[in-house]
Amino acid sequence: RVTPVILSGGSGTRLWPLSRADRPKQMLPLLGDRPMLRMTLDRVADDALFSTPVVVASESQVEQIAEQIGDADAGTYRLILEPAARNTAPAITLAAMAAAPDDLLLVMPSDHLIGDPAAFTATVRKGIDLAERGALVTFGIRPTRPETGYGYIRQGAPLGDGAFRVERFVEKPDAERAAAYLAAGDYHWNAGIFLFRAETFLQAVRSHAPAVAEACAAALAGIGEEARVQPDPACFAAAPSISIDYAVMEHADNIAVVPMSVPWSDVGSWQSLYEVSPSDESGNSIAGDCMMIRSTGCLARSDGPLVVAIGVTDLAIIATPDAVLIVPRENSQDVKDAIDLLKSRD
Ligand code: GDD
Ligand code: MG
Repeated sequence: RVTPVILSGGSGTRLWPLSRADRPKQMLPLLGDRPMLRMTLDRVADDALFSTPVVVASESQVEQIAEQIGDADAGTYRLILEPAARNTAPAITLAAMAAAPDDLLLVMPSDHLIGDPAAFTATVRKGIDLAERGALVTFGIRPTRPETGYGYIRQGAPLGDGAFRVERFVEKPDAERAAAYLAAGDYHWNAGIFLFRAETFLQAVRSHAPAVAEACAAALAGIGEEARVQPDPACFAAAPSISIDYAVMEHADNIAVVPMSVPWSDVGSWQSLYEVSPSDESGNSIAGDCMMIRSTGCLARSDGPLVVAIGVTDLAIIATPDAVLIVPRENSQDVKDAIDLLKSRD
């Protein structure tokens, strides 16, 4: 069976004003009424394939996590609490060290939308054999634009069952290289989901990011099978802050990619939420108390006040009890400008 490892560390600021420092994206119900973290757990609920999941999260999130998915001490999941945020390489290393060497780990972000859970599971199954034979398995999404916020995976020789060897992994290329990879046709986007034996991953960390391996090993010294794992803060703080993509994937040579033709979104902006949300005959996607009059192509969402929009087109309108955002949908990544300004106001 496969052990899901769910990363719940990010503090998505790009979905302001709904997401806030104290209410990150994975705690929000973005599509339907279930928060993303809850949906992520639901996706790996089939206990014929998956064993008890491990959630790796910041200590500051304990209460919100318990609210969403129950208390860790109830035994439905295992919790690894990071005393400080050190990005994904240390977070995944903690999970791999807390597992048995032969455990197959399926590492997943807690804040992505995946459209077809059954197809997702079928895709994961395709990677199991490769992972058992010592591959670091990635899952590839067909790229549709020269996005610079993703990792790019170049496929090599076929490995059977639709999978490929990976020739090259490039994390967040600049715009020019992203455009070239898109044009080349043999690159996938990295879905941010990984499957490997715990020991395969730890070997890779030891050789490509030894400082991460040392800090995590020290932080876990003396810790056993607890349901709630609390690494030593001082030791963990010594880990460099680096993602799995830069620390391991760009350097390892035992990577495989399984193409994943499943609707997938990392919901990195209001625009990308619009793209995966059902919309009405006017092209409006509405959640909460919103009245749309002669308005088209809008994402409108209220978590409080009544929103009335008249004669507007292609906007994202996001209302919360204490803040309202209005932005042309296509420019919704510019929310980061607001965040910068807000920080300077505090
Ligand atoms: N526990 C924990 N601790 N989780 C973390 C931490 C941390 O310190 N930092 C990030 N995470 C979680 C985030 O919440 C998210 O679910 C996941 O790890 C990935 O982190 P991001 O910060 O969102 O990464 P990214 O979007 O820049 O890039 C990654 O995802 C892309 C796909 O969405 C990379 O893997 C790219 O290659 C990939 O294309
Ligand atoms: Mg992300």
